[in-house]
Amino acid sequence: MTYHALVPAAGSGSRMGALSGCALPKQYLPLAGQPMIRHALATLCATPAIMDVFVVLAPDDIHWPAAAMATLGPKLRVLRCGGDTRARSVANGLRAMAGELGEIGNDWVLVHDAARPCLTVAMVENLIAEVGEEDAGGLLAMPVADTLKRSDDNGRVRQTVSRDGLWQAQTPQMFRHRLLLDALDFAPQVTDEASAIETLGLSPRLVAADVSNLKVTYPLDLQLAAWILQNREQS
Ligand code: CTP
Ligand code: MG
Repeated sequence: MTYHALVPAAGSGSRMGALSGCALPKQYLPLAGQPMIRHALATLCATPAIMDVFVVLAPDDIHWPAAAMATLGPKLRVLRCGGDTRARSVANGLRAMAGELGEIGNDWVLVHDAARPCLTVAMVENLIAEVGEEDAGGLLAMPVADTLKRSDDNGRVRQTVSRDGLWQAQTPQMFRHRLLLDALDFAPQVTDEASAIETLGLSPRLVAADVSNLKVTYPLDLQLAAWILQNREQS
């Protein structure tokens, strides 16, 4: 079986920028001595099962640190075809990959956010092993631990929602190339790949991960990610 990674990195980090006042897209903010995006790319490049790692940039991206990335080796491939939504960036990337590699419809593609820098090789290998050859693919996710409240329009509790069976979706999310492209064409409004697959009536496998695979959205997340990465390096 062949596995490719696809890392959408064409976002502008607007929620981070609004709070930090920094115009640099969040994937390029310094984190533990490197641009944030380099951490996830390094993990994916270091995973033996993954053949190549495609990163999708905005066409007008002027921040991509090519020199710092050159040391990641020949698996890393840059595509400048990002779209105006994450789903479009992923769909454009899937098409561009096929343009470079040829017939890859049955190959697996692991889509991973540039903004999840604490991914480990062990997490990727666990996902690949747990999903196996399941047609519906799968994703890393975390069972919801907190009690959930639905609010009314005034910021008061309207209802307590049972957390039974609820998971927070993470990435990587892995699907066969052709199925994922068909699903994203069918449901382009989704916020993750699994949702697109679900619209086809399929049920992707949930593979338990943990909170360390957090997505960096706000400034405090960046501090948490730095703590996780530095703590791991020391242990
Ligand atoms: N992404 C992308 N193309 C877009 C929007 C997002 O490739 N048009 C990527 C981001 O670069 C990120 C991932 O999708 O790696 C997850 O998106 P998110 O965390 O929402 O990042 P941003 O969209 O950049 O942040 P925000 O929503 O705060 O603007
Ligand atoms: Mg976004």
